[in-house]
Amino acid sequence: MGNFLPPSLQAAVPTIMQLSYLVAMVLFILGIKKLSSPDTARKGNQMASLGMLLGVVITLLNKGILTFEFIIAGIVVGGVIGIVAARKVAMTAMPEMVALFNGFGGGASALVAWGSLVMAANPAMLGNQVTVTIGISVFIGSITFTGSVIAYGKLQGMISGNPITFPGQHIFNLLITIAGIAFIGLLTASPSSALFLGILFGLSLLLGILMVIPIGGADMPVVISLLNSMSGLAASATGFVINNNLLIISGALVGAAGFILTTIMCKSMNRKLTNVLFGAFGGEGAAAPEASADRNVNQTSADDVAIQTSYSDKVAIIPGYGLAVAQAQHVLKEVADKLEEKGVEVMYGIHPVAGRMPGHMNVLLAEADVPYDQLYDMDEINREMPSTDVVLIIGANDVVNPAAKTQPDSPIYGMPVINVEEAQRTIIFKRSLSPGFSGIDNELFYADDNQMFFGDAKDSLTKLADELKEL
Ligand code: TAP
Repeated sequence: MGNFLPPSLQAAVPTIMQLSYLVAMVLFILGIKKLSSPDTARKGNQMASLGMLLGVVITLLNKGILTFEFIIAGIVVGGVIGIVAARKVAMTAMPEMVALFNGFGGGASALVAWGSLVMAANPAMLGNQVTVTIGISVFIGSITFTGSVIAYGKLQGMISGNPITFPGQHIFNLLITIAGIAFIGLLTASPSSALFLGILFGLSLLLGILMVIPIGGADMPVVISLLNSMSGLAASATGFVINNNLLIISGALVGAAGFILTTIMCKSMNRKLTNVLFGAFGGEGAAAPEASADRNVNQTSADDVAIQTSYSDKVAIIPGYGLAVAQAQHVLKEVADKLEEKGVEVMYGIHPVAGRMPGHMNVLLAEADVPYDQLYDMDEINREMPSTDVVLIIGANDVVNPAAKTQPDSPIYGMPVINVEEAQRTIIFKRSLSPGFSGIDNELFYADDNQMFFGDAKDSLTKLADELKEL
């Protein structure tokens, strides 16, 4: 960096560097803090991105790795790819994109650690502490890379979303893990050994694949969140290798945030992480349970729903995965606006794992400019249920399934759900009686106070909006 400054300022370079790193760290921490509310999330994202840009530029300049022209060219090329990818990706495909980012992050950490070892003039002089950390970074980073690529492939449908298992798989994975740790030890004892390093890379890449293939496609968001945490740990380890405080801190933040998110997701789905990782649950969509075939349901239509809702005092909307599939968020907002014009109080109840990724419903509704103060979390909306006249359940299923409270043998038993049956009436918008993610039937479909409005959520809501205009 000194080369770009007048000689009088060169003495200040180390201080400028450290101050810039400090600013970048503060931007990361404030950015994460702001992500905790939809109001400030956008700003938080921008602040953290700015921190990352500052960190990258300062590091490249300080190490004399690149000159300004290359840095600017890199920013332009990377920026264009990032902007095009982020703009083109559908909201429902966001987990795939995050999976790829995690994979690249893990892979980059492993490569930087590898480079520090092979480019050292004398690897034996690095010391045990550094070599062990290089081994850890290669191990975790490579697992994250291949694990994320498999997760991406499963979500994109390139690889079967069903769990791919073989006998003795868990024991085999355990043996590879033990072998990987042993090779970190061997590498530490012989840091110049290309063979040990190569085997460590091979075992870690294989382990990433074998860890993710037995997990069902529908559990991939939890896996991606865990891989996100691992990519942070790999980056943090690499920070120790290259003695970069910024990388240590940002990696630790990602590691902790990813792990907390994984825990929240598991808790909200009432699943143990071990059950997600080793349970082979949640394939590509389960068959409808047979029991539903010969049971009666009350069916309704747009004109009837329009009358029921417009003569209500309070209407609650519970969105789910089907709303995202149908991309019906804008027309849903139109329906809500029409009801409000008629003096109806409208609120949205957001279950923490509605949809297929954390914050899925919040993002969808924000896209349609639904005011934040109309969004109620699960506990808040549950308190409103007894005084609600009509609940519109749009493409949601598991998150309102009373089996979670009443059937101890159900796979979702114990999962917290929205108590929609406590309202006077429920109306479910979906295409059929098919189950949701968990593959189980829903007693609510057959309840006396429930009506089914069959059809694609966007079509049904469009018809409802038209009827409300007529009333
Ligand atoms: P689900 O229980 O998966 O139900 C979604 C429903 O949407 C389906 O029953 C489907 O019925 C309907 N649907 C699909 N396309 C539709 C369309 N075009 N129009 C109208 N309806 C449509 O969704 P949920 O209630 O949101 O629950 C989420 C589930 O995913 C939970 O079990 C949760 O544990 C799990 N999960 C969540 C996450 C995160 S982080 N959110 C991650 C992994 C798993 P039809 O086919 O009959 O239309």
